[in-house]
Amino acid sequence: MVERDKLLDVQGLKTYFETDRGVVKAVDDISYHVKEGETVGIVGESGCGKSVTALSIMNLVQGPRGRVAGGKIMYTTKGGERVEITALPPYSPKMRAIRGSEISMIFQEPMTALNPVYTIGEQIAETVCLHQKVSKKKGRERAIEMLELVGIAAPSRRINEYPHQLSGGMRQRAMIGMALSCDPRFLIADEPTTALDVTIEAQILDLMLHLQEKLGMAMQFITHDLGVISTMAKRVVVMYTGHVVEKASVDDIFYDPRHPYTKGLLASVPTLGRQERLVPIKGTVPNMNELPKGCYFSPRCQEAMDICHQEEPPSYQLEGDHIVKCWLWEQEGVRLP
Ligand SMILES: Nc1ncnc2c1ncn2[C@@H]1O[C@H](COP(=O)(O)OP(=O)(O)OP(=O)(O)O)[C@@H](O)[C@H]1O
Ligand SMILES: [Mg+2]
Repeated sequence: MVERDKLLDVQGLKTYFETDRGVVKAVDDISYHVKEGETVGIVGESGCGKSVTALSIMNLVQGPRGRVAGGKIMYTTKGGERVEITALPPYSPKMRAIRGSEISMIFQEPMTALNPVYTIGEQIAETVCLHQKVSKKKGRERAIEMLELVGIAAPSRRINEYPHQLSGGMRQRAMIGMALSCDPRFLIADEPTTALDVTIEAQILDLMLHLQEKLGMAMQFITHDLGVISTMAKRVVVMYTGHVVEKASVDDIFYDPRHPYTKGLLASVPTLGRQERLVPIKGTVPNMNELPKGCYFSPRCQEAMDICHQEEPPSYQLEGDHIVKCWLWEQEGVRLP
């Protein structure tokens, strides 16, 4: 693939945190890309580095304890310029411009992203005014339009309300409206529907798909819910303890998973009408300060061999664009550098 086809190109990214108990390698040498207009799903259990990956793309990893320790993130702007995000100072004019008018993020916690002392309308209008340099009146009109778009009834009244006056589902919609208000080319949605009940979740997912079609934006959709991934994504990146353990098309992930971790995730998803018992993956995600030797998944893996407990597996390319980081594929796969 020609490099410029990649809207976002994450190459060997490492994001580390210094803690009192040592260095936490929250993201450790991950690579994937997102093409223009496509949705890539990122899945994995809690604590595997999904949000830290997203924050690294937004260049919002907080120093002095957090830092990008290696690799780079490349982004291709509207004008076709390939920008190395990881080389830009977080609050430089260029980074601010990218963060506002090119890449938007729906944060995992709406209450931490919405400011409690400003009304919903003020916050959306400010985002619009700041990045599109329009008047306050235009900004307000745009805010009403966005609330309408995300299905909030009586938007001209609702924009005068404060975040705490809205229900959880409404707040989430307002966050989505805010993230979409500047027509981003790339949207990072970090568990945008996890806190919602299933009917509202379905509505919001529908809305995002609809908006994606209308605006042609690309998405990185983060969730630990494989059911949600199946409706949203074309390709899937499976993460475990800061590593990418499998990457493939959504069909391959669901019908031909190759990593025991991915198989485990699938076996623990309820499927409508399925008779067999759900099988959760045994054990829990290890503490990031006490990672096991060899493959980090080996203590929980049903198929682990001796080498898995000794050495970290390389990544292998299987047929097509299917990539798996697991010793089981040593014979059949092509080892990646
Ligand atoms: N500021 C920080 N300081 C130290 N460790 C951190 C910091 N932020 C994240 N981590 C650690 O990095 C790891 C990855 O965290 P991250 O938030 O990316 O997980 P996640 O995959 O988004 O999980 P969840 O599904 O629960 O949202 C975790 O072990 C977390 O404790
Ligand atoms: Mg998270």
